[in-house]
This record gives sequence, C-alpha cells and structure tokens, in this order.
Amino acid sequence: MSITRFLTGITTTGTPHLGNFVGSIRPSVAASLRPGVQSFYFLADYHALIKCEDPVRIQRSTLEIAASWLAAGLDPEKVTFYRQSDIPEIPELTWLLTCVTGKGLLNRAHAYKASVDKNHEAGRESDDGVTAGLFMYPVLMAADILMFKAHKVPVGRDQVQHIEMARDMGASFNHLYGEHFVLPEAVIDDHVATLPGLDGRKMSKSYDNTIPLFSSRALLQKLIGGIVTDSRAPGEPKEVEGSALFQIYQAFATPEETAALRQQYADGIAWGEAKQVLLERVDQVIAPMRAQYEALINDPARIEQTLLAGAERARQIATPFIRELRSAVGLRSLVQASSAKAAKATKTALPSFKQYREKDGKFYFKFVDANGRLLLQSTGFDAPKEAGQAIAQLQRSPDALQALGARLAPVEGVTPTDVSAALQVLADAAAA
Ligand code: TRP
Repeated sequence: MSITRFLTGITTTGTPHLGNFVGSIRPSVAASLRPGVQSFYFLADYHALIKCEDPVRIQRSTLEIAASWLAAGLDPEKVTFYRQSDIPEIPELTWLLTCVTGKGLLNRAHAYKASVDKNHEAGRESDDGVTAGLFMYPVLMAADILMFKAHKVPVGRDQVQHIEMARDMGASFNHLYGEHFVLPEAVIDDHVATLPGLDGRKMSKSYDNTIPLFSSRALLQKLIGGIVTDSRAPGEPKEVEGSALFQIYQAFATPEETAALRQQYADGIAWGEAKQVLLERVDQVIAPMRAQYEALINDPARIEQTLLAGAERARQIATPFIRELRSAVGLRSLVQASSAKAAKATKTALPSFKQYREKDGKFYFKFVDANGRLLLQSTGFDAPKEAGQAIAQLQRSPDALQALGARLAPVEGVTPTDVSAALQVLADAAAA
C-alpha cells in the first residue's frame, strides 16, 4: 500500500474561532490519525503578509494558531507541523514556478479578479491597492504544495481554483524539465458543517460574528447569550430550521443529543434555556483543550521548538528536492555535466539503504538520509537474504516499519515520521 500525502496551510492572521475548529481543525486532526496517510500541516505566514501588515499580529496569530492545533490534539510526532517561513526552499521554488507560469493564468485568479472588480465599481484604476504579493499568491501556494509532493489538499471551496492552478504550474514545469512534481488534488469535505455565527450568517472573521475557540467560559456564556433567535416566547414550539443555536449545538453534540434538543424545540424550550444547553455542551468539548491551550500559549518557547523540529523534518525533503529542481532548470555547478550525468548526481542525493556484515557474523542494514544521517539501524540477521527481504518490505511501504518492529534498533532523535518521510522520498524517486 502506498501512502497518501495530505498537506494543508493555515494563514496566520486572526484568532481561531469555533467555525475554524468545526470546519478545519477537528476534521484535520482526525484525518491525520488515519492509517495510510502522511500529513503536512503548516502555518502559512508568508501568505499572511499579503493580508496583514501588523508584525505583532502576525507573530501573535502564529502562536495562537499553533497552540490551538496542538491543544486540539495534533500530534507533531505523527504530522509534519511547521512554519512556512522556516523553509527557505519554498520562496526559492516560488521563483522557479513564477518563471513557468503565464501571467494570464494569474490574471484569472478569483481573489485578484475580485479586487479588480471592486476597483472598477468604485471607478478606480484596475490594480489600485493591489500588491504584487496578492497577484502572486497562487504561485506561493503552488510552491507549498508541490514542494512536498502532496497528493491531496484539504481546502474550503474558495481555494479549489488555487489547487487547479498548482496543477497547471506543476504540469508546465514537468513538461519543460521532466517529471519532478506530483500533481495535487483538492479534497473538499462536504460533510463538514459550516458553522453559523452569532448573527446567523456563516461564522467568519470578516463578518465579525465569531466565537473565539478558546474564550473563557464567562466570555463563551456572554457570546452565546448574543446569538440571534426569533421572538417566540417560552412554551411556544420553535423551529430548528435556520436556528443558528441549533446548528452550533449539532456540531458539538452526538446525534442522540441533537435529537433530544430537536424534541425540546418542538416542546417549546425557552431560548434562555436552550442557550444554557448549548453553553454546557460546547464547554464540555472545549474545557479540556482550553487548559492545554493556556499551558501552551504561556510557553512560546515550547511551541517554537516544536515548529523548528517540524521544519527540520520538512527540510529533509525540501533541501534535496530543491537541489534536484535547481539542477533540472540549469542552476548547477559549471563543472557538472548536463542532463544524463546530472540526473545521476541528483540520485546520489537520495536516502539509501546500506547492507553489511559485522564481526559477529550477522548481516545488518542501515538506512540513511540524503545527508548521511542515520535513520534506521537493523539488528543482526542470520542470512543476507533476510536483511534484503526486510529492505524490500520497507521499500514497498513504510507500513513495514511496524511489522519489522523488533528487527530495528532504535536510533536516538529519529521519529517514525522521519523514517517514513525518507522512505517516501525514495519511493517517489523510484516511481519518477
Ligand atoms: N490559501 C489558503 C487559505 O487561505 C492557505 C494556504 C496557503 C494553503 N498555502 C496553502 C492551503 C497550501 C492549502 C495548501 O485557506
């Protein structure tokens, strides 16, 4: 079985709210725990610069979003969790892609077109107030995705065009320079609820109708108290259809609990009481995470360390890959021979298995990354064939890591994710 690689970015502007939790954080954390997937989640802080020019807010939001994801159960040992700006290979790839991207393709991007339309409506020049950053947004996003050979990119509907553009850019590059990129697909989960906000419209920062995910219980109570309802009196039957209160409840409750509230609506529950029911249910979900969040937010050094460790792991993929790409476009040593030999040179920069025999007469293998760092060390096998079979198993699928368990001696500072990422690099190279 081959591994499916998921990747998604979270722009670091603003504070996560209940809508982000239900629509993105919760399903992503759950997805990252499924077998057979490898997940890359990152804080898109270069993207944030396009929308936000307040350095304090960028930093604070990065901290809050990282703390929120970790508090919600994201396991940085399982998921490669990093900050975009810690990966210098991403802006480097952005430039390589910029040079194979038609300007016309970018002209058609929805977000850019919306800005132009707005200017036209207001009688201003087309590009008034539009930065080159906004225009280039899709290229940076394509670099995020193509760098890690993501197969699937979970996003909201508004981002689907960006994934299609990433495919276009990857395909152009592949066409010009050979098959280097995996072409990604958008994944839109239609089962995931969009949460209504305080005023009944979709919960969104731009409508100023949000409930922050980690509000104190007191604030949560106050905000829930402000959710719009109709004017039906206690005792009058209420409609669940179109009730923001009911929909938020549904996103946090079990189907049985939801059915019970539906019945209470029909029986004429008072709005005040319904709000109390909602408060208790939401708080039941949030309270344990809130404690975790508080601990994390008060220890930025710990989060910083987690992100740097994630970046290091991400760069184990990005560094050799950008080297390969630079070489492919001709940014390479003057003494390096062209094409055929160059291909060989990049091959030597892959993770590799090494088999050997020790003085104890047994047969061993180790697995090292592109820079020669030890990732796996086997215990001794009686026959070289057995060692070879174990290697073949690992080459077929990183799942073999578990099956082989006892045959592998632990290597300090190396996580299973490091190993499976390197195995995937090898598999991708073999498939190319
Ligand atoms: N543009 C995305 C958003 O606003 C964030 C993002 C940046 C992203 N890079 C990405 C999402 C790469 C998926 C993959 O939601």
